[in-house]
Amino acid sequence: MRLDGTDTAAIERAAALLAGGVLVAFPTETVYGLGARADDDAAVAKIFEAKGRPANHPLIVHVADTTDAAHFAARIPPVAQRLMDAFWPGPLTVIVPRAPGIAAAAGGGQSSVGLRSPAHPVAQALLSAARRLGVAGIAGPSANRFGRVSPTHAAHVEAEFGASMPVLDGGPCAVGIESSIVDCTRGRPVLLRPGVLRRAAIEAAAGEALLEADADAPRASGTLASHYAPNARVQLLSAPRLVEALQLRSDSAPRLAVYSAVAPASAAPGVRHRRMPARPDEVARELFSVLREFDDMGVHSIWIEAPPPGPEWDGVRDRLQRAAAV
Ligand code: TXA
Ligand code: MG
Repeated sequence: MRLDGTDTAAIERAAALLAGGVLVAFPTETVYGLGARADDDAAVAKIFEAKGRPANHPLIVHVADTTDAAHFAARIPPVAQRLMDAFWPGPLTVIVPRAPGIAAAAGGGQSSVGLRSPAHPVAQALLSAARRLGVAGIAGPSANRFGRVSPTHAAHVEAEFGASMPVLDGGPCAVGIESSIVDCTRGRPVLLRPGVLRRAAIEAAAGEALLEADADAPRASGTLASHYAPNARVQLLSAPRLVEALQLRSDSAPRLAVYSAVAPASAAPGVRHRRMPARPDEVARELFSVLREFDDMGVHSIWIEAPPPGPEWDGVRDRLQRAAAV
């Protein structure tokens, strides 16, 4: 069931459904989330069931602002506060110690909670409307089934969960890949998942270097080696290898889609090509949508040109490597 995100009555309706413990998918600037009121463990359980996600994988709780964030946190470590001040509302999730007894299911059994204030105006309107109904936060993982590509359009959410799932339509997501996640519970900030924010920008706001995630990091499904996977087999290839592989390919090879900045030879038979944009933010915006389009074409293989080195490509590179992992 589509609800029009430009219509105030539809936003009120979505908030009322959430307040009543019903799941509602909603737009954010990164990807669409599958929402439930964060303080209702039974409602949150429906998210895990719908996604087929293990119950010990914690969810992000979306809040309107830092005041609502404080409701879910036992304390806000200073580094988390600096990051929130610098990037909220925006594509950054901070992991902080969870207030005891609050949002236990959303926390996936961890003593911490992931908090994010999304910048999308429809998400902010929904959070405000929900707060008027006594809902301080909306637990929301990406609105896709476990391990699958995150949705960046309302139609993607319907493709994942069927037309009966309420979806607040806010148009295509401007960022296109999920938020950067920084764990602020371990003394030093740890980057659990890169997003579109530059590492250097996060470090400048944090006032210290980010540590890499290690085996002690809390469980995060977006950090599993194989994730964001389309049905087709994905391979990452350098531009010269890609060109060479296309030349060597036989006519009888299975149906192939190519996403590359370099143009394949026009002779490549039966190959569906999409030109990869030059800028990382442009690739991030369309990446998940392109992978879904390839799947919908029924291709068996997807060859993707490996992005160039450089920190501005970290978020895209991370998603591509996980999509290609088997
Ligand atoms: O951009 C985003 O972050 C989107 C939009 C909807 O906000 N949400 C999203 O949620 O990507 P999800 O659940 O698909 O990914 C959130 C990641 C997961 O890998 C989860 O395990 C991790 O955040 N996470 C959440 N709470 C955590 C916690 N307390 N400790 C460690 N990791 C946590
Ligand atoms: Mg996800």
